[in-house]
Amino acid sequence: MPESITITDNRTGKAVEIPITDGGVSSDAWRSLLPGLWFYDSGLTTTAMCESSITYLDGDEGILRYRGYPIEQLAEESTYLEVAYLLLKGELPNKEQYDAWSREVTHHTFIHENVRKRFLEGFHYDAHPMGMLVSAVAALSTFYLDAKDIYNAESREKQIVRLIAKMPTLAAAAHRFSVGMPFVYPDNELPFAANFLSMMWKVAEPRYEANPALTKAIDVLFILHADHEQNCSTTAMRTAGSAHADPYSSAAAACAALYGPRHGGANEAVVRMLTEIGSIDNVDAFIQGVKEGRGRLQGFGHRVYKNYDPRARIIKKVAYDVFEVTGKNPLLDIALKLEDAALKDDYFVSRKLYPNVDFYSGLIYQAMGFPVDMFPVLFAIPRISGWLAHWSELLDQDLKIVRPRQLYTGEGERKYVSIDQR
Ligand code: CMC
Repeated sequence: MPESITITDNRTGKAVEIPITDGGVSSDAWRSLLPGLWFYDSGLTTTAMCESSITYLDGDEGILRYRGYPIEQLAEESTYLEVAYLLLKGELPNKEQYDAWSREVTHHTFIHENVRKRFLEGFHYDAHPMGMLVSAVAALSTFYLDAKDIYNAESREKQIVRLIAKMPTLAAAAHRFSVGMPFVYPDNELPFAANFLSMMWKVAEPRYEANPALTKAIDVLFILHADHEQNCSTTAMRTAGSAHADPYSSAAAACAALYGPRHGGANEAVVRMLTEIGSIDNVDAFIQGVKEGRGRLQGFGHRVYKNYDPRARIIKKVAYDVFEVTGKNPLLDIALKLEDAALKDDYFVSRKLYPNVDFYSGLIYQAMGFPVDMFPVLFAIPRISGWLAHWSELLDQDLKIVRPRQLYTGEGERKYVSIDQR
């Protein structure tokens, strides 16, 4: 006997039984029983907007899987480019497929000279690199007019490869401009993460040799950030994509959502918070302040995870690998004491507030020399593969345009009053 729920309209006595499928119930039956009565769900906390087979997340158990593969195994054994392939195509590539895919992505890393010279260099000298990235991704749609052909498989594949390949180039270009350094062209002999670090840090040496431990750390961070099912930026991508906007314009909408401090900016907030705390001696007083409602413990809590975020566990280990090379970030001791104190405190325990992905990632980025303004940009580089996987999936499913309803709470009809009579 399949599980179901029954909804009864107490005004009419009519009822409808709805089967529970894949952990949810369809709104079709609700709509047929209660036409014109809207299901109010601010923040879409209870609404599944789509069916998806990309990422599985169980927030109570702290489980995250891409296409069925546990995030821990992917972080340990895979590479970001392989994970991007997996997210987009549903299966891990064989050797031949992987080589072809890496070659394709590597050969699309260059950006049109006009994007750099006329567009990126036109920004104000102190422009925020994330603002530059949002605009540059949108501008790419004007360079690749074939991108509008979203139902042409060949064109779609080309735009996907271009976007994955060009994100590190745009990101590094935005950084170089914001610190007044000359642009570094991609070095296509280098693997993906090493190439990004070269574009970030190269000065006058013939080839930038990134430390292998740091390259590995960046690659793991890219894997961990590649997708996270229906988060705010992915929903923005899906919303713009559902209107059949081209992938560059849709990705710009997603980047804009990621720019927000509640989403892509939280690791920056963690670094600022730890700097403000200043010493392990001040941790207890800070925790007390949070409990009394004076601010939040940044990098703690999550809309979906009510357990330790599995990505945070992996990142904590990566942090130690990075500090072996860079020296310990002086904020680490404060972070460790803060985590320990919060995990023992009933306020945090009873609300199921655990460290999330952002608690340690900022410390790693800072130790590697990235300015805090670059943190959301570093998030966007790999998240593009997740956004594009969702965009492709929604087009394949031929989903409806996103168009929610509202509960109107404003004035009833009013007669216009001319300005001299108000
Ligand atoms: N510090 C102190 N109290 C908190 C925190 C926190 N970080 N997060 C939630 N709470 C409390 C909150 O005050 C509320 O308490 P009460 O029931 O007494 O009013 C309760 O926990 C539930 O909070 P909520 O705001 O209803 O939870 P939410 O699911 O809407 O918010 C969140 C999730 C991530 C916005 C929130 O936990 C938060 O602001 N965390 C700090 C910022 C942060 O680390 N953000 C990164 C999220 S992970 C990145 C990503 O995946 O995109």
